[in-house]
Amino acid sequence: MDGTAKQPQSLRDGLLGRQSVPPRLVDGPAPPQADIDDMLAAAMRAPDHGAIRPWRFHVIQGEALRRLGDVFVEALLKREPDAPRETIEKEQSRPLRAPLIIAACAKIDQTRADKIPAVEQIVSVAAACQNILLAAHGKGYGAMMLTGVNARDPHVKAAFGLDAADEIVSFIYIGTPSGPAFEKERPDPTDFTTIW
Ligand SMILES: Cc1cc2nc3c(=O)[nH]c(=O)nc-3n(C[C@H](O)[C@H](O)[C@H](O)COP(=O)(O)O)c2cc1C
Repeated sequence: MDGTAKQPQSLRDGLLGRQSVPPRLVDGPAPPQADIDDMLAAAMRAPDHGAIRPWRFHVIQGEALRRLGDVFVEALLKREPDAPRETIEKEQSRPLRAPLIIAACAKIDQTRADKIPAVEQIVSVAAACQNILLAAHGKGYGAMMLTGVNARDPHVKAAFGLDAADEIVSFIYIGTPSGPAFEKERPDPTDFTTIW
């Protein structure tokens, strides 16, 4: 970890200091396996109606990032067979922007959907994503949830073993911050809160 990575000293600091760090502001090294394990253990603490465990995580690093780029290119060429070379190259290199991606997917249990609708199962994966972001932040890594057209593409979904009704909730790009974080102004919670 380089000198720019700051670890929060308390849960409160971690919660109130978390912000997304875009891939252009992260670099190697990738988190070691013990830190990835902690992030995934944090994901297991996500609220989950009915203990459906709809979460499916794919840890992608090293050569696997290139393989994900291949999948993105295949998907692009199915959508746009005549895609220009620059667009193909962009998709090929898209996953290489960070040393680690965790693809967070929701495998919807349709047999339970009468009582626990798909949206609740997706929300559970979203909560798991937030836990991963917070765990990464807690260890001084930079992370960001990204989706885009690839997250909705049937070819990409199939590569992760998903059906049409399932979701890629996000690709979480994670790395070591390469410079000081850019602080965003945060809204005043009272603007979004009504006291009943
Ligand atoms: C499900 C999901 C998908 C997202 N996809 C993108 C994306 O594709 N591109 C992007 O610029 N931001 C995307 N974002 C937003 C960023 O992850 C981030 O939350 C946003 O830039 C605000 O930064 P903050 O987390 O520091 O508030 C997504 C957020 C969520 C929750």
